[in-house]
Amino acid sequence: MVARYVMSIDQGTNSTRCILFDHQGRLVSVAQREHQQHFPRPGWVEHDALEIWRNLRRVVPEALSAARVGVEEVAAVGLANQRETTVLWDRRTGAPLGRAIVWQDTRTAPLVEELRHRPGDDFFLDRCSLPPSTYFSALRIRWLFDHVPGLEQRAKDGEVLFGTMESWLIWNLTGGADGGLHITDATNASRTMLMNIRSLTWDEELLAFFGVPRPMLPEIRSSAERYGEARSVLPGVPLTAALGDQQAALFGQTCFSPGEVKCTYGTGSFLLLNTGTEVVRSRHGLLTTVAYKIGDRPPAYALEGSIAVTGSLVQWFRDRLGLISSAAEIETLARTVEDNGGCYVVPAFSGLFAPHWRSDARGVIVGLTSYITKGHLARAVLEATGWQTREVVDAMNADFSVPLKQLKVDGGMTADNLLMQFVADVLDVPVVRPMVAETVSLGAAYAAGLAIGYWSDLEVLRRHWHRAAQWLPDMDPERRESEYDNWQRAVERSLGWIR
Ligand code: G3P
Repeated sequence: MVARYVMSIDQGTNSTRCILFDHQGRLVSVAQREHQQHFPRPGWVEHDALEIWRNLRRVVPEALSAARVGVEEVAAVGLANQRETTVLWDRRTGAPLGRAIVWQDTRTAPLVEELRHRPGDDFFLDRCSLPPSTYFSALRIRWLFDHVPGLEQRAKDGEVLFGTMESWLIWNLTGGADGGLHITDATNASRTMLMNIRSLTWDEELLAFFGVPRPMLPEIRSSAERYGEARSVLPGVPLTAALGDQQAALFGQTCFSPGEVKCTYGTGSFLLLNTGTEVVRSRHGLLTTVAYKIGDRPPAYALEGSIAVTGSLVQWFRDRLGLISSAAEIETLARTVEDNGGCYVVPAFSGLFAPHWRSDARGVIVGLTSYITKGHLARAVLEATGWQTREVVDAMNADFSVPLKQLKVDGGMTADNLLMQFVADVLDVPVVRPMVAETVSLGAAYAAGLAIGYWSDLEVLRRHWHRAAQWLPDMDPERRESEYDNWQRAVERSLGWIR
C-alpha cells in the first residue's frame, strides 16, 4: 500500500500531540495528552521524561485509529519539541537521571548573575549568539553537575546522555538502550549555549567553560533528513525531521523569505524573523538562532524574541486569582470596560526574557487606584501580551534592514479577537492567521515530507498557506505612543526586584 500521510509529533511544554497531515497539508486526525507540571520549589519547573515517552506511545496509535490509518500508510514522521528543557539519562538502562528541568525553570539565576557581570564580555555572543540566561540548557547541565554527587564523573566516563526532548524521544523510538540514535538537530542545538552558531558543531570553548563532556552530547544533524527508522511505536517508519517547536511554527507558517515573521501565542510567545543564510547579531536583545537546516542546504537563521509569560498570565489570572473560570472569559471581562483605566501588568514571573534578559525582574501591577475593576485588570493582562510583542518588534526593526510589514500569528491566544486587534494596533501592521492553526505540527510534517520527496519544494508548501483571519491597525498614533511610554515605565519598575 502507498504511504499517504505524514505524521508529526509535537512534544510541547504542556502536552504531547500527534497529528496526521495529508498531501494538501490538511489536518486528518489529532490525539493529545497532557503531562504533569512539577513545581517542587519557587521558580523550579520539572517534567517527568518517562511520562512524556509514555504519552507519545499512546497518542500515536490514538491518532492513527482516529483516522483509520495503518502504520504502513505513514510516509514519514517529524518531531517538534519544547526547546531547552534538559533531560539526562543513563546510557545503559535508559532511565532518566531525575526529572527534566524545563525551560521556564529559574534555579540557575545565581550562575546567570555571575556570568552577566563578566567584564566587557562577548564570549558567549561570539560563539553561540545567546546571552547568559536561565533559559538555556548548558546552565542546567552545570547546575546538575554541581548538585548531584558523582554525576559529572559519570558523564565524563560516558555513562550519561544529555538531550532536549527530541533527542530523548528519538533515542527511545529508535531502540533506546538497545542501539537507539543519540542525535539532535541544529535548531535545538542552537538553544543549548553549547553549539557554535556558524559551524553548527559543538564549540570546544563553550564545552570547556561549562565543563560539559563531549561523550554525553548528541550528534548534531540537519532538521530534515533520513535519521533512521522507528523500531517501536511506529516500526519501520522513517524519522525524517526534528525542529524546536518555534522554528517548526516558522516553517509551518511558510516564512521562508528573509523579513518574514511569525509569532506563536502560547504559554509564552515567540516571534521569529527569518534573516536568511546570514547570521545577524542582535544589538537590541534578540537571540540569533538556527531557523531550519534542510538536508545539505545551508542553514537559514532567525532573530528570535522570546517572551516567557503571555498565555500563562491568563492562566494565573484564572487559577490563582480566580477572576475568570475559563481562559476564553478574559475577553468578555476585558470588554466590560473601555480601556485599562491606567493600569499595567508586567508579568516578569521568570524574570524578563527578550529584549531585556533580566532574571532579577519580578512581576508588577502599576497604576492602581480605587477606580480599577477586574475588567481593567483583565484588559491590562491582555495588553501585556500586546506590549511585549511591540518591544520585540521594535528590536527586530532596529536589528534588521527589512521593517515588519505584517505579522503571521498562531497559537491558542489568537482566538482572542480583542487581543489580536490590540496587537495590530500597537504594532501598526496587519496581523494575519492561517487556516491551519497547528503550525508547529504542520512545520514538523513539512520538514519530514520534504526530506523524503513527499513534497517537492518550499513553493508547494507556500501554496498551502491560506488566510483565515486578519486584523488591521486602528489606533490613534498619539494614544499608542503615550500608552507605550506608560508600559515602558512599568517595565522599569519590575527590573532589579530580586537582589
Ligand atoms: O523555548 C520554549 C518553547 O519552545 C516552548 O514552547 O509551545 O512548548 O510552550 P511551548
